[in-house]
Amino acid sequence: MATPVKLAIVYYSSTGTITEIAKELHDAAVKAGAEVRLVKTAELAPQAAIDTNPAWSAHHAATAHVPHATPEDIEWADAVILGTPTRFGNVSAQLKQFIDTLGGLWAEGKLIDKVFSGFVSSATSHAGQEATLLSLYTSIHHFGGITVTPGFTQPSKFIDGNPYGTSHVDGQGNNPVDEVTRTAARVQAERVVRVAAQLKAA
Ligand SMILES: Cc1cc2nc3c(=O)[nH]c(=O)nc-3n(C[C@H](O)[C@H](O)[C@H](O)COP(=O)(O)O)c2cc1C
Repeated sequence: MATPVKLAIVYYSSTGTITEIAKELHDAAVKAGAEVRLVKTAELAPQAAIDTNPAWSAHHAATAHVPHATPEDIEWADAVILGTPTRFGNVSAQLKQFIDTLGGLWAEGKLIDKVFSGFVSSATSHAGQEATLLSLYTSIHHFGGITVTPGFTQPSKFIDGNPYGTSHVDGQGNNPVDEVTRTAARVQAERVVRVAAQLKAA
């Protein structure tokens, strides 16, 4: 039997939207036969800033047990799915800081030919989701990674409407992760695991 695909899901989330999508990706990837590590990036904001937002503070405490991502998680993985809330149309500093710790692996050529994919959330529509994912994918080109997005690979559904990666509009906390976004996450996870398995077998 083929060795299972090793998948690292690495995410940053302040108020829990990205965490919810990450869990859906995790469950779908496990179901697709992957060995999965679900890890978060370190918080960079001071506790005083976190404390100004009850949703941020509660989520920070509730996810204290989630392990921090390390470069070893990326070295271990055949495939990596990266998740971030949009920050003024860009990747959060917390996820970017983690990406910047991968210089050593990059220099050794250890990121080459790994599969990468991304997911995002924003407060409002048309407010930077694709820009954030494209910005994230810029680094993957530097890695020599293989970007595997959901695409319109199930055109009869169009899922959440974003072929660049699962994307959710949280409505400033009023629109929790729903079945549309969960379906998009499942489709994305299944495609990443399927393509990574094919590359691994080759
Ligand atoms: C500094 C900052 C910048 C943000 N920039 C945007 C933005 O450009 N567009 C948008 O729709 N939401 C923006 N948001 C909102 C978050 O991206 C959004 O609420 C996200 O879904 C939160 O994800 P989380 O619950 O996983 O932390 C911003 C939030 C912060 C704190």
